[in-house]
Amino acid sequence: MEITNAAPLRNAAILSVGAHRPERVVPNSELVERIDSSDEWIQQRTGIRTRHWAGPEESVVDMAATAAKIALDRAGLAITDIDSIIFATITYPFQMPSAATELAERLGIARVAAFDIGAACAGFSYALGLANDMIRSGSANIVLVVGGEKISDFLDLDDRATSFIFADGAGAVIVGASAHVALGPTVMGSDIENRGAITMEPSWLDYRPGAQTPATTWPVIHQEGQKVFRWAVYEIAKVGHQIIEKAGLTPADIHAFIPHQANERIIDSLTKSMDLSDSVIVARDIRTTGNTSAASIPLAMDTLLKEHPHLHGKNALLVGFGAGLVYSGQVVELPPLPKVRN
Ligand SMILES: CC(C)(COP(=O)(O)OP(=O)(O)OC[C@H]1O[C@@H](n2cnc3c(N)ncnc32)[C@H](O)[C@@H]1OP(=O)(O)O)[C@@H](O)C(=O)NCCC(=O)NCCS
Repeated sequence: MEITNAAPLRNAAILSVGAHRPERVVPNSELVERIDSSDEWIQQRTGIRTRHWAGPEESVVDMAATAAKIALDRAGLAITDIDSIIFATITYPFQMPSAATELAERLGIARVAAFDIGAACAGFSYALGLANDMIRSGSANIVLVVGGEKISDFLDLDDRATSFIFADGAGAVIVGASAHVALGPTVMGSDIENRGAITMEPSWLDYRPGAQTPATTWPVIHQEGQKVFRWAVYEIAKVGHQIIEKAGLTPADIHAFIPHQANERIIDSLTKSMDLSDSVIVARDIRTTGNTSAASIPLAMDTLLKEHPHLHGKNALLVGFGAGLVYSGQVVELPPLPKVRN
């Protein structure tokens, strides 16, 4: 007997988005003294004015659970409708069990497929691509895709290359079946030659009894800022064109551009290289949210839809990129107007 797959291929859509930012707003002025910098320098080089950092009482899963509940309400669905959870994160502080299973427990769902994705700032786009393929193939019906980070736990506040860039938050989307193609094919890849450009070090093995030395430091993010900057503006512009082409569209069919929120100058450069029309709305959530890694695209999507409600149901180009160096993206139809306003 041959293996059969009775499920016919289906289309998928983002049904809703939800977002959560921690309450505490951290202005540049709070960070500049330790890195001999200034509010003006940070704004000019990155676009960031403020970011949100969570306190010790709020975990990455707390943030994700809030974002997920908002997304579920907006989709008009119940927690029990979810059959799969994909959690993109690089800051869940346990190797196992996964952040996705803790989120399932927190939401009170006993039986779901649940797993994490570690693709750094491209994690959400990778997870969304997987959710699309799971719905298409019939492996899942309703997927909760979360990008959540508490990067403030893994930052060196004395590092001039990172302390002012990264921030905390969680964004969630609900992905389900659709009568038409509302989630385009995913382009994903890597540039392993630049694998060391962004890292989180040292390794956990350096904390084993006997391995620690007085010089052993807590693991934090390190990056070669200029190298990452040049790579992003050059390579990701090409990836953006591939994503549009793979969806069978042209730049004229794109209404909104939601790139990973790494640096506003990278966003400006990509916007120029993408040949997008002047009417395209570009996400600039970085200004008040900073770089939240896997959370940045859903957080920026939520802000964009609040500020420009006419974009519900319109085409958006998403592209994530980050440590690895890895990238991933797709054209999506932005979710319809929410069933409830929350
Ligand atoms: C980190 C980043 C903002 C640094 O900006 P940059 O313009 O590349 O800065 P450089 O390291 O080239 O340094 C330029 C000058 O600014 C100074 N400088 C560096 N960091 C500084 C800081 N935090 N505050 C003030 N001055 C700083 C340097 O000393 C140097 O001074 P000099 O010209 O007198 O020698 C920038 O490289 C960047 O954003 N890169 C992309 C990183 C990113 O997006 N990462 C996430 C990807 S997912």
